[in-house]
Amino acid sequence: MRPTPPPVLVVDAANVVGSRPDGWWRDRPGAAARLHAALVAARSDEVVLVLEGRARAGVPEDDRDGVRVVHAQGAGDDRVVEEVAALVAAGRATTVVTADRGLVGRVVALGASVTGPRALLDRLAPPRVPPAVRLRPLSEDDLRVHAAGCDALVVRWSGGGQESTDEDHLRWLRANARAWREGGDLLDVAVEDVRSGEHVGVVGVQRHRPELEPDDVNLTYAVYAGHRGRGYATAAVSAAMALAAQRAPVRRFVIRCDPENRASAEVALRAGFEALGPVTEPDGSTLLRFVLDVG
Ligand SMILES: CC(C)(COP(=O)(O)OP(=O)(O)OC[C@H]1O[C@@H](n2cnc3c(N)ncnc32)[C@H](O)[C@@H]1OP(=O)(O)O)[C@@H](O)C(=O)NCCC(=O)NCCS
Repeated sequence: MRPTPPPVLVVDAANVVGSRPDGWWRDRPGAAARLHAALVAARSDEVVLVLEGRARAGVPEDDRDGVRVVHAQGAGDDRVVEEVAALVAAGRATTVVTADRGLVGRVVALGASVTGPRALLDRLAPPRVPPAVRLRPLSEDDLRVHAAGCDALVVRWSGGGQESTDEDHLRWLRANARAWREGGDLLDVAVEDVRSGEHVGVVGVQRHRPELEPDDVNLTYAVYAGHRGRGYATAAVSAAMALAAQRAPVRRFVIRCDPENRASAEVALRAGFEALGPVTEPDGSTLLRFVLDVG
């Protein structure tokens, strides 16, 4: 029996690159080169990468490392169809990566299958490892890093819109150092990156507040300016839940945030909390409430 020829993936580069709003339109050759590099690094199926227009300047036509680059002289779609026709005629199982409706119809008619850009990009993205964090008590020594990290975003969402002076910060740091020593109900701790040792933010654990049931623990967090967008808050929420459970029994974790604070709501959802929707707080404000039952 003759061996089955390996499957081929034909990538409609313009459609795949265009599916992610990452600024590709400012640098089409660069975006094509990045997609090419990711396909080479993935070392999966044999790949035909079809480039059109200005994207062609990003990668020359060649056939290396399992990726054959072809330049369309006219419309990229026509070149994809040409490649698919030749591959199918040669008996190759061919899958086209595109979300372009017109192109889908043309290649399916030739006998190819189709997959969307998202499926390919998810497969090419390096697996995201959550940053490793550890929690430690705050102290007066944290003044400089804490004060510098509390930018306008932290002031707005964690500080009630009120700028803090160094004296305010020091008072807060001392109160939290004491709460750690004495096992207090309201406690903020420092979040450190395990690898770099950098102090990247704070996470708070609060019990016995008017808006909470007994054995509820409320969590708060702030990631300092310059450290956002890397998963520190979500990792800190996990670490804070472990810390709270070590200190006393917990039935339910609660996160509350302003409906406009999308970044905070995303942290709660990423950490696996369930959205309860808006809740009127004892002070009359309306906050979104997220809960995670553990009792
Ligand atoms: C709320 C706040 C802590 C969120 O910070 P954040 O950096 O967006 O949240 P995370 O640390 O969980 O990081 C998630 C972001 O990192 C990205 N990320 C990168 N690598 C990641 C990884 N390995 N794991 C998870 N997320 C990762 C995520 O895609 C996400 O970015 P996106 O929102 O652009 O998709 C921050 O905006 C802040 O400090 N705000 C001021 C204080 C505040 O609002 N506190 C809450 C009061 S209720």
